[in-house]
Amino acid sequence: MTQDELKAAVADAAIKEIEPWLEKDTVLGIGTGSTANLFIDRLGRLGDRFQGAVASSDASASRLKAQGIDVLELNSVGTLPFYIDGADEVNAHLHMIKGGGAALTREKIVAACAERFICIADGSKSVARLGEFPLPIEVIPMARSYVARELVKLGAEPVYREGVVTDNGNQIIDCYEFMIDDPEAMEARLNNIVGVVTNGLFAARGADILLLGTPKGVERTAR
Ligand code: A5P
Repeated sequence: MTQDELKAAVADAAIKEIEPWLEKDTVLGIGTGSTANLFIDRLGRLGDRFQGAVASSDASASRLKAQGIDVLELNSVGTLPFYIDGADEVNAHLHMIKGGGAALTREKIVAACAERFICIADGSKSVARLGEFPLPIEVIPMARSYVARELVKLGAEPVYREGVVTDNGNQIIDCYEFMIDDPEAMEARLNNIVGVVTNGLFAARGADILLLGTPKGVERTAR
């Protein structure tokens, strides 16, 4: 199976996962990226079964609207029953690296408001140790060089993602050569660097359910 077919399979599985729980007043949290896009495309047919969605990026908001799904402001809704999103890497503890698409801050905010985070990913995203994928850090633009120097002290090779401006008007630094042994501790440590808006480690709030696409089928892991 191709990577795209595996992504489609987990998007289908996520629809099956949430469908029994949908009610007229349900508001879903929706992630960003190619796997989340496949999920959005499938969600359209269930559009009359729930109220709407909160999007983690302008791109996902546009795609949801194209499917006829109402996009709501996070501040106007309460707790979301589900947040559904992809990942760049995920480990056995359902900790993740996210932010390859530069949407990490809004993803982390919407995920924080959700009762259950369903991670949908093709098998290539499953790793024993996080860090092969360069860890994205969203920074306030004027702090970029300072943050980069602090990241070097932690052992990373920071690279400015040139030309990328996040939906929040900030910049992204990607940390290369930065294998992570304790994701929760590193997430907190990175958050303590002045000028960091968000880091792409999702460990303190990892996924609750992982739907992983493999050639043998979709593997479901819950914690
Ligand atoms: C967006 O900023 C990311 O966190 C994505 O969720 C992540 O990069 C996964 O993207 P794909 O589904 O395109 O692999």
